[in-house]
Amino acid sequence: MCQITVRHANFNFPEQIDRYWYSNSPFKTHFFNSITLLFPDGEQFMLRTIKRQIKQIENVQLKQEASAFIGQEAQHAVQHEKFWHNLWQQGYKFDTYLRFLRFILFNVCEHHLSIKFKLAMIAGVEHFTNVIAELTLKEELFAEAEPIMKELFEWHAAEEIEHKTVAYDVFQSITKNYLIRLLGMIIAYTFILSFVSLGLVTMLYHDKKLLDVKVWQEMLQLFFTKEKIFLKVFSHSIEYLKINFHPSQRDNLFLIKRVIS
Ligand SMILES: [Fe+2]
Ligand SMILES: [Fe+2]
Repeated sequence: MCQITVRHANFNFPEQIDRYWYSNSPFKTHFFNSITLLFPDGEQFMLRTIKRQIKQIENVQLKQEASAFIGQEAQHAVQHEKFWHNLWQQGYKFDTYLRFLRFILFNVCEHHLSIKFKLAMIAGVEHFTNVIAELTLKEELFAEAEPIMKELFEWHAAEEIEHKTVAYDVFQSITKNYLIRLLGMIIAYTFILSFVSLGLVTMLYHDKKLLDVKVWQEMLQLFFTKEKIFLKVFSHSIEYLKINFHPSQRDNLFLIKRVIS
């Protein structure tokens, strides 16, 4: 039986949300704003790929889970995109960023990668989001953030953990080739790190803060000394290299109970 629930969220982001809504920190805020710029199109790419594959899935439970995955990712895309209006109102411009992102996702990846590589890439992305989701809930990463942004990221994190096995299982249903899985992970991580960095630089450039020493001190805090995101993501991600890896091996489902029912 499929254990994944499609919930219909309806976030409304008031105009009064602080420009630097995460601990009054430009770097940390724009790191998560950058993720919000990436998610809607990234999730569209994922759900479109899974949707095309769904007819070929023979396992009835996996088919239902894939359908719930599509429903959840569609919700994430819509809710994160709503926050773009706040960013536009604050004067940020990211049309060029979005054009480039869409070109890579829909003109390059969607048209030129084989279904095996697309699914390997999506399984890699889902491993990354599962790692970040676990950090979000386990360490209350958004404890000092604007409450509605905390709610958005925690809801998304909980659903990412809830559907963490789906993309991996869909990939495994067409091939169990380790090298393709590994290559998919490399493509996924390169893609995410490149676009999160590009989004961050775009936002910081707009604020004329690219040369602000304080901003780069905040980067060191977030990645290495306080929240230690980089180190934690790196150490969790290594699990994916195991030959017999499966997303269900990581015990984190209990974390979602306080956020979703
Ligand atoms: Fe998502
Ligand atoms: Fe996901």
